[in-house]
Amino acid sequence: MSNKLITESLSGKWYTEKRIFDKETDKIFFNSWLLVCSESKIKKPGETLFVEILNQPLIFIRQEDQSIRVFYNVCSHRGGSIKKEHKCVNYLQCSYHGWIYNLNGELKKSRGFNSSQLNFNDLRLKEIDSRVWKGMLFINFSSTPDTFKNTFDKIEELISPYKIDSFLFYKRISYKIKCNWKVYLDNYLEGLHIPIVHPKLNRALNYKSYKTEVFDNFSVQSGKIINENSPYLNDSNSYAYYVTIYPNFLFNIAPGRLQTNIIEPVNEKQCVVHFDYYFDSIEKSIINEDITFSDKVQKEDILICEKIQKNMSSRGFDKGILSGDYELGVKHFQDFIKKSLI
Ligand code: FES
Ligand SMILES: [Fe+2]
Repeated sequence: MSNKLITESLSGKWYTEKRIFDKETDKIFFNSWLLVCSESKIKKPGETLFVEILNQPLIFIRQEDQSIRVFYNVCSHRGGSIKKEHKCVNYLQCSYHGWIYNLNGELKKSRGFNSSQLNFNDLRLKEIDSRVWKGMLFINFSSTPDTFKNTFDKIEELISPYKIDSFLFYKRISYKIKCNWKVYLDNYLEGLHIPIVHPKLNRALNYKSYKTEVFDNFSVQSGKIINENSPYLNDSNSYAYYVTIYPNFLFNIAPGRLQTNIIEPVNEKQCVVHFDYYFDSIEKSIINEDITFSDKVQKEDILICEKIQKNMSSRGFDKGILSGDYELGVKHFQDFIKKSLI
């Protein structure tokens, strides 16, 4: 064990105060690239996806040219919502007074108004920035988003042994957790708890090979997989990569599979974690084993995270300490949080 610096962790109030949660939403989440889901949710032109992210109602629409555009699902007339259709559409209609928009957000018909009185250009649906990367859909609420490319080019290079481009979306499983979103991230960002909390996962990974590397706005943990104890495809030189991209999504990569996790904040004491599974063309039995294994590890983590959340409000806790050897990823993440809220 080295003598790397021991540092202080965030104090309990960071995990329990609404004031801090609101600040995080405003300063971090509304200014970051956020993973939404697989782009395969909307395949054909005119297919739509209605989602709420950070309490913002959004509509995703596949365009004629196959691109995807994302709009606030809020009508420019008086704030109505676009009618939800479960089929391909040629236009979008407001469910309140029936205004009609083209798929690209342009206002087409303004029922109740003489169109010559209106500037249609000012009355388009408000659009937000989006990207597709390796079949995954991302958005950014900011009007001046950070460059997407730099981060993702670097991640691509790091995980290059795995060709995740060819993986297909399989399914989503969501877990409601009674903890602050950062409790979940803190826990994910270190392997120190693995031998204690996850005995089965511990047998599948070579703990000695476990390492953490930190970059600007993401970090990567990796470890060698012990094939005979792992649920994944057997591979002669296989590593598991755990990539955390700030603020709130994770890529868990192993041979033949990618699992993304989105830690969606609900309030200062709750989050929902979405697991999206993507697989190469591999046997159903391996897929099932993988999902069962992940679900077990996730339930072990949920128990721990919910306990930690409770203890963050305890009169017996102020703040903790972080090991320079094993909790480097946690420190890097917590430094990012503090820096972002200044
Ligand atoms: S609010 Fe949409 S048409 Fe009136
Ligand atoms: Fe864990």
